[in-house]
Amino acid sequence: MVFIIYTNFESLKNDCENCQKCALGATRTNCVFGVGNPNAKILFVGEAPGENEDKQGEPFVGRAGKLLDLYLNGIGLDRNKNIYIANILKCRPPENRDPLPAEQDACIDWLRNQVRIMRPSIIVCLGRIAACKLISPNYKVTQEHGIFFDKNGTLMMGTFHPAALLRDPRRKADALEDFLHLQEKIKELGISI
Ligand code: URA
Repeated sequence: MVFIIYTNFESLKNDCENCQKCALGATRTNCVFGVGNPNAKILFVGEAPGENEDKQGEPFVGRAGKLLDLYLNGIGLDRNKNIYIANILKCRPPENRDPLPAEQDACIDWLRNQVRIMRPSIIVCLGRIAACKLISPNYKVTQEHGIFFDKNGTLMMGTFHPAALLRDPRRKADALEDFLHLQEKIKELGISI
């Protein structure tokens, strides 16, 4: 087995774009590595690319992404400036089904390497799949959203997936509170944005 230590996003991205570790490598249009500032201290992690993301090669570019940008911009965050956005899976699952555990396991090292290079102070998990993979397998978004967990020195918070907010707008106020809580935490930690 070859174990590569990546020191920059360019070589990591290049290898990720050629990944065939699971069957999704054969059906993707684009590998969706991530978007944003790799020097940012705040990382957002979603689930997997959808149809639009697969076509354009960028995470969260569809309706859910537009909603995410509203929440981000509302607290002074901007995907093109002071954060990074990635997903648990880099390739689109067919028909937008949930990522299979085996696909998540095959893909997770790309994200682990992104985290190793970035060393973010805060990771925000967008939805159940990301929170269960990164915070705790038993994570419940409805009960634990907005709470910061210290995982080996990195603060991790889960909140509602923006696609879930489109399906159930009654959760939008809770999501706004989570983003305001995030804004407070950014200030408290003295992270310059
Ligand atoms: N949903 C996600 O979780 N990620 C995307 O990139 C798009 C939609």
